[in-house]
Amino acid sequence: MGNIVLLDDLTINQIAAGEVIERPANVVKELVENSLDAGATNIVVEIKKGGKTYIRVTDNGKGIAKDDLQLAFERHATSKIRQIEDLEKTYTMGFRGEALASIASISELTIISKTEKDTFGNKIKIKAGDIVDFEEVGASIGTSMIVENLFFNQPVRYKFLKQDASEFKVIKEWMQKVALANPDKSFKLINESKVVFFVSGNGNIEDIIYQIYGKEIKDNLVNVDYSEGDIKITGVIGNTMIAKENRKSQIIFLNKRNIKNPVLSASSDQAFKGSVGIGKYGFYVLNIEMPPSYYDVNVHPTKMEVRFKDEDKVYSIWYNAIKSSLLNSEFLGNNEKENNNKDYIKNEYDFVTSKYKDVKKLSKSIDISEEKELRKRDNTRKVEYKYLGILFRTYILIEIDNEIYMIDQHAGHERVLYEQIKENYKKHIQSNSQMMLIPEVVNLSHKEMEFVKENINLFIDTGFDIEVFGQNSVKINGIPDLEYRSKTNNIFLDILDEMITNERTSIKDIEERFIATVACKAAVKANMDLGKEEVDQLIQNLLTLNNPYTCPHGRPTTVKFDRAFFEGKI
Ligand SMILES: Nc1ncnc2c1ncn2[C@@H]1O[C@H](COP(=O)(O)OP(=O)(O)OP(=O)(O)O)[C@@H](O)[C@H]1O
Ligand SMILES: [Mg+2]
Repeated sequence: MGNIVLLDDLTINQIAAGEVIERPANVVKELVENSLDAGATNIVVEIKKGGKTYIRVTDNGKGIAKDDLQLAFERHATSKIRQIEDLEKTYTMGFRGEALASIASISELTIISKTEKDTFGNKIKIKAGDIVDFEEVGASIGTSMIVENLFFNQPVRYKFLKQDASEFKVIKEWMQKVALANPDKSFKLINESKVVFFVSGNGNIEDIIYQIYGKEIKDNLVNVDYSEGDIKITGVIGNTMIAKENRKSQIIFLNKRNIKNPVLSASSDQAFKGSVGIGKYGFYVLNIEMPPSYYDVNVHPTKMEVRFKDEDKVYSIWYNAIKSSLLNSEFLGNNEKENNNKDYIKNEYDFVTSKYKDVKKLSKSIDISEEKELRKRDNTRKVEYKYLGILFRTYILIEIDNEIYMIDQHAGHERVLYEQIKENYKKHIQSNSQMMLIPEVVNLSHKEMEFVKENINLFIDTGFDIEVFGQNSVKINGIPDLEYRSKTNNIFLDILDEMITNERTSIKDIEERFIATVACKAAVKANMDLGKEEVDQLIQNLLTLNNPYTCPHGRPTTVKFDRAFFEGKI
């Protein structure tokens, strides 16, 4: 007796059905997933003509028994579930019993398989859904599926296929993803008899990343290993050096299944905010593990979409996993701050997730004494360092514990101011203005005026004391109370100019961008001479921050060199 069964009608009707084979990569995906479900640890994929004429997937999984071979390519035949409720505890990639049936109906499919119990293997050949050959053959344990002449009976589909090279590229990208999700399995991809991708399955995700993305990416990764209850997140995230303009290098696996999910994407956007630069997307390859009962994968036939039962919880855990890994990186040797990070992350999280209006309401209830408290910096920790000097009137050099720190004075100051402004902004503390001796009236263009009117709260909440003064001018009574080095009366116009040359996006983004812009314009610039006291203040302020690593635009504030870096060079 085999263990593949035909699902009953009730179950069939509850499964998200639909055509999943549109191109060769879909075939590869279905076959490789079947191999993984069969417990294979070694999977070889061979391709010819972009997969149009030939796809072969060979595995060392448990094989298919003789009786089951004839059932495997029937529609709704599966060994993975019996009834829909089983999905609540199913970890396999497949469950619909449709993939082989779909493939068999539009190609010539040959299956060669042997189980541990069989003495011989069996081979079955199906053309457009009909068995044309079935015989015993010599084979080793496992399964080999050969798909030839895809869409031979569907000329219209065939016509939609791209050039061989393009089809192959999609296959390769997909294979790389599967390898990333399964670092403990060996994968080999052969194109036109040449090995183009191979990973040994040694369990080390960095080795796979190195193969796929190269050294620069590998060298800028931070490991993630985070759990809350029975939800666990593992993998790697990239620092600001490798952040990208698009989401292409954000890869999500759910119990090793590659998915796309707006909840997780939105959550990671927030977590990376302030660490990778505005408009950039942090690099990550992460797998989130949880009991299958926490989500529904039966939403769409390709299973790329899932629905989480508790979206808020998943959002928050994903956020915390990324944020805490970003902040815990050993970068500045600030191991002491682990506990602090918790509060900081919670505080940031509340800010990014709460609606603008709710924050406003909240701020009303904060009394003056509390305001004073909030603005005070945490001075409990003092950084001990040896001051070495300033290079090129821009980079502050210090030594701490046998390491040389090179701090970009602009980027560092920008980060300090950014944190300070943001802290005030979050609480809507409006008393942090520095009054100007003589209020200044500035004339604005129509566009500038519109921006000010629409976003007057942004200005006020970051410490500007301004009022609309006639149709085309604004009166500035005060500016944010920060340590200025640039000419103060220019700052308002500089910020305005920066803001209107960029498109406005959602509320949160404009807030973020505004705060970063204020910090940038107020910060000391390169080539400004700093006194020793100013340097000390900057170092103390920066190195005691929870997130000192980058300026708000994502540029590193500091690079570190240890002794080993110099040894051998000089
Ligand atoms: N490489 C393989 N090794 C062992 N058994 C396999 C392999 N490929 C397929 N099978 C068997 O054939 C059955 C049918 O495969 P098929 O891919 O059509 O359905 P499924 O994996 O159960 O569901 P889905 O349609 O969601 O992929 C599987 O349930 C499994 O029992
Ligand atoms: Mg399958």
